Amino acid sequence: MAESVIVDSNLTKAEKYETLLPQIEALVTGEIDLIANLANVMAALKFGLHFFWVGAYLVKEGELVLGPFQGPVACTRIAFNQGVCGACYTRRETILVPDVEAFPGHIACSSASKSEIVVPVFKNNEVVMVLDVDSDQLTDFDETDKVYLERLADLMGNWF
Ligand code: SME
Repeated sequence: MAESVIVDSNLTKAEKYETLLPQIEALVTGEIDLIANLANVMAALKFGLHFFWVGAYLVKEGELVLGPFQGPVACTRIAFNQGVCGACYTRRETILVPDVEAFPGHIACSSASKSEIVVPVFKNNEVVMVLDVDSDQLTDFDETDKVYLERLADLMGNWF
């Protein structure tokens, strides 16, 4: 297994994802444990792309429960009808939030969080997890993040 992820800071955002995704695939090769793989993915995203907060909310016991993450401590449970994560679960689609203050019902786990993207992970057409990424800058996520994080979500769906 690779000891660290390497992403050149001079690359464009798309190039960074293109560099990182194969490294993530290599990182999980040979390991079948869901939590171990999710934990390494969050570390790879945090240290490869320098996200403020990145983590998994797993569908469990009728709500979203905090899983492996990197960043400041976060809310542990989110109802399906709450927050950006709940909206992602209910709508079954990626939600881009350029300004969290402008999203009705946004849950502020950290007051430093300014923008957010939440991507659903599917197994057999059911949402089994949402991947949540927060930034401390406004409008930090765009279609490029959506395309690549959805690609990563496709990979993660196979682990459930
Ligand atoms: N902001 C999210 C809650 C999770 S934290 O950002 C880590 C939401 O509104 O669902």
